[in-house]
Amino acid sequence: MLIRQATRADLKAILTIENSSFEAERFTRSQLLYLMTKARGLFLVLELEEEIAGYLSVLTHKKPHSLRIYSIAVDPARRGMKLGQALIEKAIAYALELGLPALSLEVNTENSPAISLYARNGFEAVEILEDYYGKGENALKMIKKL
Ligand SMILES: CC(C)(COP(=O)(O)OP(=O)(O)OC[C@H]1O[C@@H](n2cnc3c(N)ncnc32)[C@H](O)[C@@H]1OP(=O)(O)O)[C@@H](O)C(=O)NCCC(=O)NCCS
Repeated sequence: MLIRQATRADLKAILTIENSSFEAERFTRSQLLYLMTKARGLFLVLELEEEIAGYLSVLTHKKPHSLRIYSIAVDPARRGMKLGQALIEKAIAYALELGLPALSLEVNTENSPAISLYARNGFEAVEILEDYYGKGENALKMIKKL
């Protein structure tokens, strides 16, 4: 397993994972490219047997007070193998490297695999954001203090 910085050459594989991971609120190719090349943060891919099996996008603010886990997804065929765990560990390590006091994220309140992954890593639910993903689609805001 290898976790490395994403490049343009990975876009097709990332988009395939994106489209099979999210129903609504999916990133387009150009949004992913923006996150990869222009956004302030880190865009990582996880390679398994020379194939892209997952990705992680984290963002920092201009005056950072926390590292935001913006998106994470693993190829549906490779879930439950702790690849998401490996990506979360990279996010935590990056926040520590930057000397940030916390990580934050939003997750759909119905998304139990993701919520359990975050909870296992010390994220705590702090707020419910109503209609965050559209009418009736609420988000849980979670924070991990370092
Ligand atoms: C959330 C996600 C990244 C986790 O990736 P992963 O590599 O499966 O993560 P892990 O193996 O470290 O563990 C994830 C949890 O899913 C469970 N799981 C196991 N097999 C699974 C499978 N085949 N499908 C879905 N979830 C599974 C794991 O058991 C674990 O939860 P548990 O220990 O409480 O039972 C992945 O489910 C995913 O890509 N989901 C779609 C995108 C998404 O929702 N991203 C989060 C947006 S905030």
